[in-house]
Amino acid sequence: MDTAPPVTETITRRFSCRTYIDKPIPDKERTLLEVFISENKTGPFNTTPKFQLIAAKTEDHEALKGLGTYGFIKGASGFIIGSTVKNLDYNLEDYGYVMERIILFATSIGLGTCWLGGSFNKSTFSQKILAKQDEFVPAVAAIGNIASKRRFFDKAIRWSAKATKRKHWNKLYFQETFDGILLPETIDSFSVPLDMVRLAPSASNRQPWRIIKEKDQNVFHFFLQRTKNYYERNKKMFKMADLQRVDMGIAICHFDMTCKEIGIEGKWTVEGPEIKNLPELTNYLVTWSETTE
Ligand SMILES: Cc1cc2nc3c(=O)[nH]c(=O)nc-3n(C[C@H](O)[C@H](O)[C@H](O)COP(=O)(O)O)c2cc1C
Repeated sequence: MDTAPPVTETITRRFSCRTYIDKPIPDKERTLLEVFISENKTGPFNTTPKFQLIAAKTEDHEALKGLGTYGFIKGASGFIIGSTVKNLDYNLEDYGYVMERIILFATSIGLGTCWLGGSFNKSTFSQKILAKQDEFVPAVAAIGNIASKRRFFDKAIRWSAKATKRKHWNKLYFQETFDGILLPETIDSFSVPLDMVRLAPSASNRQPWRIIKEKDQNVFHFFLQRTKNYYERNKKMFKMADLQRVDMGIAICHFDMTCKEIGIEGKWTVEGPEIKNLPELTNYLVTWSETTE
């Protein structure tokens, strides 16, 4: 049995792959992925989005018929499609968490992936996984064998989203309040999970995650800082889901998996901490606290 690479290595290696070698995912990897999907279903908020791998088993791509990505993706041999229940608290955060776990697993076995929250045909993808009336597909992921050379279009999208860039540490992480400076060298090994959050993918690379650490305690409050009009505009024009909530689930996944791997135990709770002077468009989501038994 092959041993899995460290999650920090997998997170660092992951990127949005939009150009694939047009051939099926090897049987071994496909089976591993299907087993992983069937065994990892629940997010930290206890909702259970449903996921399915739709993969072409031969070059003729019959299984992928109609699953359009408006030219954003070339040669993918499959998609991970999921659905969640509409109007359920934390449905999108859990969706982001569970899908990102699948994406990191796929990365760890050598496959390429790309989250798609806008560039996919919503109705055909929903039909493909037989989403019920009270369910919807907020986003999907393309999956396949990574091509060694990117297309020009792929390079152009990465350039426009500044895909390799991330916001500076001190724009994302704070101590006690949004004015308090959090120095990585003062928080022991916690700088590692925070570094891994910074590498998370996010819709249009907007990186809406903000985290406040409490003074003298290993307690981290997660906030969503929305991009002005992003959701409203994309919903109206493209019927997109609230992708910045999905981004939060992804960030929580990176934090959680990294803590677990480096042996730090903790729990997620929704507490409503009293943080004064929240910046504009910023809302509290959840708190991670270290548990020492
Ligand atoms: C929720 C979500 C939705 C996304 N939707 C799209 C999309 O519709 N089309 C696309 O080409 N990339 C999409 N992306 C990929 C982002 O553009 C990408 O994660 C970001 O630019 C950072 O680049 P990286 O993933 O290579 O680190 C999405 C990412 C996330 C997390």
